[in-house]
Amino acid sequence: MDREMWSGGIGFIFASIGSAVGIGNIWRFPYIVGANGGGAFLIPYLISVFLFGLPLMMLELAVGRHLQTSVGPAFRAIGKRFYKAGIVIVAIVSLILSYYLVVTSWVLAYALFFAFQRPVDFTAFTGSYYPLLFFVLSGLIVYATVRSGVRKGLERISRIVIPLLVVILLFLVAFSLLQPGAAEGVAYYLAPDISRLSDPMIWAAAFGQAFFSLSVGMGILLTYGSYLGEANLFKNGVVIVVADILIAILAGFMIFPLVFAFGLDPAAGVNLAFVTLPSVFAGIQFGWVLGMLFFAMLFLAALTSAASMLEVPVATMIDSYGYSRHKATLLIFGIIFLLGLPSALSYTGLHLELFGTPLFDLSDYYFGTLGLIISGLIVSIVAGWFVDTEWLFEELGGSPRMQQAYLVLVRFCIPAVLFVTLISQVFGIAAV
Ligand code: PFF
Repeated sequence: MDREMWSGGIGFIFASIGSAVGIGNIWRFPYIVGANGGGAFLIPYLISVFLFGLPLMMLELAVGRHLQTSVGPAFRAIGKRFYKAGIVIVAIVSLILSYYLVVTSWVLAYALFFAFQRPVDFTAFTGSYYPLLFFVLSGLIVYATVRSGVRKGLERISRIVIPLLVVILLFLVAFSLLQPGAAEGVAYYLAPDISRLSDPMIWAAAFGQAFFSLSVGMGILLTYGSYLGEANLFKNGVVIVVADILIAILAGFMIFPLVFAFGLDPAAGVNLAFVTLPSVFAGIQFGWVLGMLFFAMLFLAALTSAASMLEVPVATMIDSYGYSRHKATLLIFGIIFLLGLPSALSYTGLHLELFGTPLFDLSDYYFGTLGLIISGLIVSIVAGWFVDTEWLFEELGGSPRMQQAYLVLVRFCIPAVLFVTLISQVFGIAAV
């Protein structure tokens, strides 16, 4: 059977931006900036993105494109002994997806609640069984996307979602900046507190956020690269990275002016999106339209990211075991749905907890934070050290000096940074 491919470079770029731009950009990035030194945070963030995120992204793309296969078989092709490491990555992405789907389902619920002008209260919502209903619904949408295939599913949906998302975001930013008192919000968001840069916590937060936001180190880009023909990987990578950063920065221009204009607390975390902003929307005329647009935008962003995660195990199932796409998607989705059920139930009337912590929060920490870093470490070590540099350089292009510098980055710097970030997370030194 012929391998499915993107329709071309543009289709690939849209799908990759779709994967990168998610809840991490629109909601997580702004509050991390606000909480970690404002504008000064952009320095470690941009360094992380360009010095570590982009090279790792190019590595994944190069491996995927050269080997024309997904994570499991690609790792086996690098060396038989790495197959299990590939499966670990597939498992981590699946676990991340299982709880990412829970947030995806909340934003879908909120979009619909606003659309029907029904007041939303987070405590009441998560005390009911509505979240379960939306977990099923959003799961089915992600499932249908991946089942439709590379071009007809992942690519097509991203081509629609990304432009739509940008239009909604620009509209909301304009609205937000026109509010009286908006300047104060912008000041909180971006006023640089340079003294904070000496704080290692800020750097760990920046590395973590950069890897999360770009969806690197998860085998997603490796898989997406395997559907790619001719293309300059560096240029494509830069486009994806810049789009991701711009959307994240813009999102802050929408959130903080609103929060400050209404005299609310720019609290970090779940409260910002699900409590603070809804109370802003509830207090404005036609706020329900804004609320609906905001949560619809979050849902669209989350949908394409979630679909990209589901594609990783599905593609491995197809390439390794010869399953049809329909069968592989059904099977994998069924497993991920079951894995996510405890997280979903932890924010329903059932309140599933372990030692007093909701299971969703545990998944966020163990899979979304630690798992993500571990997976990035495995990818950078296996792909950085064990692929044949001859074909790697052929894929990447560039001058011999650039190639040598690149090798130092992916072999030493990226694993080292990831390792330090992991340690600081485990010992609770990092901010997020
Ligand atoms: N990049 C996505 C976001 O910013 O929301 C989240 C994400 C997708 C993280 C895929 C990890 C991943 F493997």
